[in-house]
Amino acid sequence: MKNIKTLDHVDVAGKRVLLRLDLNVPVRDGKITDLTRIERACPTIAELAHKNARVIVLSHFDRPKGKRVPEMSLRPLSAAIRDVLGVDVFFADDCVGPVAEEAVAALEPGQVLLLENTRFHKGEEENDDTLSRQLASLADIYVNDAFSAAHRAHASTAGVAAHLPSHAGRLMQRELEALTAALEEPERPVCAIVGGSKISTKLELLGNLVGKVDVLVIGGAMANTFLAAQGTDVGRSLQERDMHATARDIMAIAQAQKCEIVLPVDAVTATEFRANPPVRVVPIDAVPADSMILDVGPKTIEALIARLPAFKTLVWNGPLGAFETPPFDAATVALAHAVADATDAGTLRSVAGGGDTVSALRHAGVVDRMSYVSTAGGAFLEWLEGKALPGILALDAVAGVLMPAV
Ligand code: 3PG
Ligand code: MG
Repeated sequence: MKNIKTLDHVDVAGKRVLLRLDLNVPVRDGKITDLTRIERACPTIAELAHKNARVIVLSHFDRPKGKRVPEMSLRPLSAAIRDVLGVDVFFADDCVGPVAEEAVAALEPGQVLLLENTRFHKGEEENDDTLSRQLASLADIYVNDAFSAAHRAHASTAGVAAHLPSHAGRLMQRELEALTAALEEPERPVCAIVGGSKISTKLELLGNLVGKVDVLVIGGAMANTFLAAQGTDVGRSLQERDMHATARDIMAIAQAQKCEIVLPVDAVTATEFRANPPVRVVPIDAVPADSMILDVGPKTIEALIARLPAFKTLVWNGPLGAFETPPFDAATVALAHAVADATDAGTLRSVAGGGDTVSALRHAGVVDRMSYVSTAGGAFLEWLEGKALPGILALDAVAGVLMPAV
């Protein structure tokens, strides 16, 4: 983060600032069901408005695939932002062209304008330079505050930055600072907890993490594949049989890199997957043939909680069990509380992210007690995979300071 220009490196007074947000909020029956992304975007909008910038907000919403889809209009978001921000938000029916240009021309310093969904234009996802130039022509400065869309090389996340001075917004800045502190320059020992169901979707992530963390705890159904690959009979548990060799490779690489892999030592099992079925808690080498592992067991979680004081940094992605179906949320909830306590006590820096992980932390009631929770899904995963994120690479660097690997 030392290397990317932020709002501290620019005077925005009176300037037209094109602010890329991620307003891709969850909506059900026309209603926004989670305001988190809006709430997190507001400090940057407020700071820019307070500094008398003309704030021009850009975002995508859903996947209209280059067509105007009325249900995917950003218009309702202007009222939602107004409600959170407490100032009026103007709206323009297009993100480029005469409609956008007129709306921008009418904007006074300190006012906020929201432009229509960037993905109504085919050029957005194609990172088309004509669209990038049209977007750039609306403003004097570009500010990207959409970390959660930074894994997309689109016109509004990457292309436009080539044509304007380009800075990170406060949310992007906080996100990069938290992620850098967690994985690039962490206080050690660092523990990563990776759960979820499939190794196949998290292969690159695991490969990157074993080279960076001291302890890698594997939970969720993904652990079943690792256990089975070592010869443990996991009964009818979900697993990826074609991934056994891959799991063994990851374990061998971990050993060579001196990364300790921790797998469950016991499990909560049931013969059927539904809420509150009869369950059996068994040692990991005694999973009944007719049963499925649906959560890690109490011994596993006790041992992990007992180790938390020894870690300085924790990165968490993916639940440990089938947390949406009780009682298979028990381990994830217990761990979440212990991590929150250690964070409160100041002994642990905890960074969590990914859609399921945020839901699980919310379910445990501790979202606000982690050091940092990323609301990014794909971008958080790609960062854990060690990939360069185009939206970040496109931003201006502070002179003389090298760009990071991510
Ligand atoms: C997200 O919601 O994860 C981001 O807004 C990216 O959306 P996308 O996956 O449609 O590019
Ligand atoms: Mg996106």
